[in-house]
Amino acid sequence: MYRPKTRPEPWILAGGTVLQDNTMQRSDLYLEDGCVADAPASNARLYDATGLWLLPGIVDVHGDGFERILMPRPGVTFSLPLALAEADRQMITNGITTAFHGLTISWEPGLRSRKAAGDFVNALAMAQDTLACDTRINFRWETFALEAVDEVLKWIDRLPGSILSINDHTTINLCEPAGSRKIGRMAERTGLSPENCLKELARMAERAGEVPDALTRLATAARALGVSMLAHDEPSAEIRTAHRALGISASEFPMTEETAAAARAAGEHVVFGAPNVLRGGSQNNAVDAGPAMASGLGSVLSSDYFYPSLILAPFQLVDQAGMEFADAWPFVSRHPAEVAGLVDRGSLAPGLRGDVIALCPETRRVRAVFVAGRRRLVLD
Ligand SMILES: [Fe+2]
Repeated sequence: MYRPKTRPEPWILAGGTVLQDNTMQRSDLYLEDGCVADAPASNARLYDATGLWLLPGIVDVHGDGFERILMPRPGVTFSLPLALAEADRQMITNGITTAFHGLTISWEPGLRSRKAAGDFVNALAMAQDTLACDTRINFRWETFALEAVDEVLKWIDRLPGSILSINDHTTINLCEPAGSRKIGRMAERTGLSPENCLKELARMAERAGEVPDALTRLATAARALGVSMLAHDEPSAEIRTAHRALGISASEFPMTEETAAAARAAGEHVVFGAPNVLRGGSQNNAVDAGPAMASGLGSVLSSDYFYPSLILAPFQLVDQAGMEFADAWPFVSRHPAEVAGLVDRGSLAPGLRGDVIALCPETRRVRAVFVAGRRRLVLD
């Protein structure tokens, strides 16, 4: 969690168009003590926002772009402090002010192993106060990582404000041939040959009978800790119902429209990938996120594997689906804050955190970013 050491100076962000109360309105915006204020402080600094849009900072509930910074080529890794700092620069430049790094804890060796996850948790705990973005973890528990349940709970306890995602890539990958792209990626991150990846998957599949108990144990404990939970790649409405009973209240990248519709009908948030919106379709042949977001099947966007996608996807929904910008921006701000249980951010209402992006509407580029009332980035 970002813990300011000194009191942030107050600001007047003057002359811009502010997204407030679900509309874009010409207004000045005031920041004081790290929050949005309803009047300017007498000693406030001036930021000239003439011609700019002032928007709530982006909340990213699932980004794993850091994996490509940590391991840009198969088997080639850089240090965790370097990767965290570089991911922070990329995120803040793209308007992300609250990030949940999607950290997979799998039974696999390599990049997604329990050892790598433990190292990541340690590195983030050390670096958290030095990062511009409020950086947390979305613990993506691979459901066959049966031995990792207690460790995940320990990490959640160590990093308050974490969220938990239930993730079953084992069952999905079992159906893949050795030459497929997914198995190829698995081979790259594990260091195993594609054939050995399939052997390991088959070996793990034999333990499928142990998964429901482990899932129940983890979800029950996380629920008692007040942790917000999501389920990843849900294949059906029946699975959504089962997950709901465990307190897992958001569906992340549902595999079918029926699954998404079941979640939305129950008043739950549905997360889709912003790269899917930008690219005009899923790279996994899953639901097409653009039409899903425009029709209300989806309510949240996450950066998934590409940080710049979040700031651009709402514009794409305006350009291609005819959405109002003020209706599209909550997909990357207010709604993901709700998914993560963060009641102190997501909108620019007085009293909420001063997480603000100043954006040029013509170029769609970030000009300044304020996090908890502090200016963390300014560009000409
Ligand atoms: Fe997935």
